[in-house]
Amino acid sequence: MEKETYIFEILKKDDFSDIVAQADHIRKENVGDEVHLRGICEFSNFCRRDCFYCGLRKSNKKILRYRMSPEEILQTAVLIDKHGLKTIVLQSGEDIWFTKKVLVKLIEDIKTHTDLAVTLSIGERSFDEYKAFKDAGADRYLLRFETSNENLFKKLHPDDDYHERLKCLQWLFELGYQVGSGSMIGLPEQTIEDIADDILFIKKWNFHMVGVGPYISNNDTPLSGSKNGDFSIVQKFIALVRIFCPKVLLPATTAMDVLRFDAREIILQSGANVVMPNITPQRYKQNYRLYPDKQYTGEDPITCRYYMENRVKKIGRKIAKDHGHSLISIRRK
Ligand code: 5AD
Repeated sequence: MEKETYIFEILKKDDFSDIVAQADHIRKENVGDEVHLRGICEFSNFCRRDCFYCGLRKSNKKILRYRMSPEEILQTAVLIDKHGLKTIVLQSGEDIWFTKKVLVKLIEDIKTHTDLAVTLSIGERSFDEYKAFKDAGADRYLLRFETSNENLFKKLHPDDDYHERLKCLQWLFELGYQVGSGSMIGLPEQTIEDIADDILFIKKWNFHMVGVGPYISNNDTPLSGSKNGDFSIVQKFIALVRIFCPKVLLPATTAMDVLRFDAREIILQSGANVVMPNITPQRYKQNYRLYPDKQYTGEDPITCRYYMENRVKKIGRKIAKDHGHSLISIRRK
């Protein structure tokens, strides 16, 4: 069967336990039983963009904006390093207060004072900036393509361009980053064909990491009142990504927890091998509201980490002790 038809058929299926079992087997054979923990620090919720689905969009006046200082971010990095985490993911809205100079110094400081791998997730920047961050020691970069349907991308991003996004992804590969990307599942107007295309897109780009999650409706956005993504489609998507990309790093992402209390366990048993405990200091994280009902907004960083660790151990999996770099070769062009 042609790949496209195969994916489409599976996404429509009601009984897909065979696909999940196959994906779990492929996961075990290719990346083993270890789950990698990535501590995510949401260091600023200022954003210069106005994406229709996102609570951080600049026109949303209902959230309290915050920006951690570089010193606070460094302290958070030192804290999680002491507690045995191996990666910090620095995520923010597109906040240009964090200039090239500020971020280079921060990355260098984290690299000097900790043994952490550094992942950046700060949106679209220039080639020159991406290069400076890499030279300062950044290891990985997360930048979702959000949807592979160019028209839908245009509708959801009034001030962004699909081809610009792809250009950024291309630069990140060229610069030798381990590149993570992915999409949202169940966006308004997104069809099953679009979702099947996202999987083919992921296969074609051969990302080191694939971060996908359901779209969660946010009443503080123009898409207020729309439906959330469907959990079983998300689960099938994850299983298919593992089948098509056997060695990829595949997180069970936070947004899934909004749909089911046991979502991450199910997703870890459907092909995923990464979780990202939230290590943002408590006083900030309730304001990092991409979507409502985010879990663990009340817990401190270390509690969040142990909570996640227990969930992983309960399903018989192990926590990785190493940095968990990608097993896919780093493409430098
Ligand atoms: N629902 C689900 N995911 C969202 N994101 C932003 N807003 C939402 C939402 N309402 C995702 C985007 C972005 C990532 C950081 O969070 O995919 O790239």
